[in-house]
Amino acid sequence: MKLSLRFVVPLLMALCIVALLLTPLIDRLTLRWFQRDLDLRGKLIFNSTHDPLIKRLKENKSSKIYSFLNKITLDDRLMAIGYCDKNSFMKYKTSLFPSDVACNTLSASTTHVLKLVNGNIHVFTAPLHSEGLPFGSIIYIHDMSFIEKRSKETKYYVFIFFVGLSLIISIITIVIAQISWRGWVGALRSLMKGEVLLTPSFSDYSAEIRPVLEDLRSLIKELETNQRIRDESLTNWTPSILKEILNQELLGEEIITVSNREPYIHHKKQDGTVEVRHPASGLVTAVEPIMRACSGTWIAHGSGNADRDFVDTHGHIGVPLDNPKYTLRRVWLSEEEEKGYYYNFSNEGIWPLCHIAHTRPQFNLKDWHQYVKVNKKFAKIVEEESKTKDPIIFIQDYHFALLPKLIRERLPDATIITFWHIPWPNPEAFGICPWKREILEGLLGSSILGFHLQFHCNNFLETVDRVLESRIDKESSTISFGGKITAVKPYPISVEWPSPWLNSKKSAQQCLEHVRNIHQLSQKISIGIGIERLDYTKGIIERFLSIEKLLEKFPKWREHFTFIQVAAPTRSRIKTYKKFESEVQQVADRINQKFGTKNYKPIILMIEHIEPPHIFEYYRAADLCFVSSLHDGMNLVAKEFISARPDEQGVLILSLFAGASRELHEALIVNPYDIDQCAEALNLALHMPVAEQRERMRSMRKYIEEHNVFRWAGKMLLDASRVRRRNRILQRISTLSGEETEYWRTRLDEAFFYKNWIPRS
Ligand code: G6P
Repeated sequence: MKLSLRFVVPLLMALCIVALLLTPLIDRLTLRWFQRDLDLRGKLIFNSTHDPLIKRLKENKSSKIYSFLNKITLDDRLMAIGYCDKNSFMKYKTSLFPSDVACNTLSASTTHVLKLVNGNIHVFTAPLHSEGLPFGSIIYIHDMSFIEKRSKETKYYVFIFFVGLSLIISIITIVIAQISWRGWVGALRSLMKGEVLLTPSFSDYSAEIRPVLEDLRSLIKELETNQRIRDESLTNWTPSILKEILNQELLGEEIITVSNREPYIHHKKQDGTVEVRHPASGLVTAVEPIMRACSGTWIAHGSGNADRDFVDTHGHIGVPLDNPKYTLRRVWLSEEEEKGYYYNFSNEGIWPLCHIAHTRPQFNLKDWHQYVKVNKKFAKIVEEESKTKDPIIFIQDYHFALLPKLIRERLPDATIITFWHIPWPNPEAFGICPWKREILEGLLGSSILGFHLQFHCNNFLETVDRVLESRIDKESSTISFGGKITAVKPYPISVEWPSPWLNSKKSAQQCLEHVRNIHQLSQKISIGIGIERLDYTKGIIERFLSIEKLLEKFPKWREHFTFIQVAAPTRSRIKTYKKFESEVQQVADRINQKFGTKNYKPIILMIEHIEPPHIFEYYRAADLCFVSSLHDGMNLVAKEFISARPDEQGVLILSLFAGASRELHEALIVNPYDIDQCAEALNLALHMPVAEQRERMRSMRKYIEEHNVFRWAGKMLLDASRVRRRNRILQRISTLSGEETEYWRTRLDEAFFYKNWIPRS
């Protein structure tokens, strides 16, 4: 509108100027036209009155002559008549004859205009003849004031005409400008989004718009590069930056997260009271802060025994309960579904398949059917919960390997990010799964498939290479399957920074006092801590054996070192887990018997669920934290321990086989199978000087602060926004003819995958 006015106002002014300049011209023209008209009238009156006038002049009766002349002047334009005799004497003149006009001032036969004080007059003079002889002359005076009146009127109408004309031109201009501006803006916007690279009719005029496309393409590239630079250089990842990415890069798209485990469990205790539990799950630890920052919907199995009492009719509940930030949609599973899909196929099949912990995976057809059924059930619910046709779906973990493909079938335009929280084994290990093909095809429904480590990505690419007919590009780490591309990338997961559980006002010293009180530990005792689910992949037995070895090899630690093991019961219906629990208990008992005294227990084993604020007290009270996983995708306990230590004290002993060991180089890295080495590490940790502890802890804290969970999610969302752009352009390209498609496709792949997608080393 502003732009239109900027055009219209000068136009109006120009037209007004034109109108003003035209005024004298109009004056002159009308004067000339009317003068000619009066000349003609003069002649006409002269011709028609000549003879009767001569006749009356000859009779020489002045009354008759006056009456005749006055009659002629009844014509409203003819103002006056005068008669000059042969001697140029004004013998007769009508009453209005101007005194400034005299016979001798006029030539015998003429017409002209005289300017008088009262206005202009037209003077027509012609000689009279009678029988061939001169008989004086006659003067007709016409009043010309009507010409001025007409001229004024003409000027007025011309002015009105120009104003009208300029208004019409302005309106037309504004309308055209608006239409074409909108069109251009729309076109530019779409191009920026990568939408209009090629419209269906592009090939008709592609040559014309190609230069524009080129410009915009480079603009997109520039944006992408900036994004990549930002994404790599940003060190301070916060919830608000994550939100900003969501709003700016993904235009505030909704996020739907799907996981098996829910973030809040309503649990009815035996005394009938209900408590809300935070489950012991690395997945929940990582994803919950992301959902709090981004809002949206989290779909998960409602596994709590009181879950149904706290949802609306659609299974919805706003969480966190004290200050809801997103919606939790609880999905109900039957006993049979839960058994087949969760306990059996997911946790007796895929879990041991992906963890090299020497537990045999169990597969059977009935469980597989339940797994398929539950994945289908969740796909339907995802569609139900989607408010748009192209939401961002964030699928978590091995419980939902089929879900990406199932969602893709229902919501073809969705951007599907799948994150596999556990390791991906080598192709031989994975190859034993009877439904390997279905699982891989399911996962390849994802737009982005994330693992913690590049190593797991490589294993996945190799597995696909062995099992499916697909095109794998190792450089860009992408797989083309069934006409769709899946990017397979590492996103090392992390924890919230700063930790929300640090809000308790207790200092490290107060936490230590508290823990000592609970467990009646004397002042001289150093404390080691191990916190996890009671899972055979966590290396708890190996850890206990290392403690035994420590006490054997370094007797000085007997009665001077206690290890507190918090082990949250997990998947306890599964035989392997039940068996494992009793083994752990037995080993702890044996060691306690071997080295324990009346007042001393080397290992305090707590098989119970402890809520995060109390777990943080243990982290803060400990001299060391021992993470001895036999195989672990990442292990967030290691990162939580570091986040819990702003006092920069405490030593982390970390398994070589946990993904975290690739990042936390200042930890004491051990092979949990090497019991002697672990015992040495324990001894080293217990002897480590305060300054060295500080140096190591400071460095690891800095790393986790920069590589926190918001960065983990932020990078996935930025990649998702790139994928969305690429897909929009791709859609348009696919409408082109063969050669053009190939040309643009190559350029697109170059721009998106090679220049921007592959991280710079
Ligand atoms: C691992 C898995 C998660 C799971 C968690 C707890 O971290 O990757 O998906 O939630 O273990 O296991 P649970 O079976 O109790 O959910």
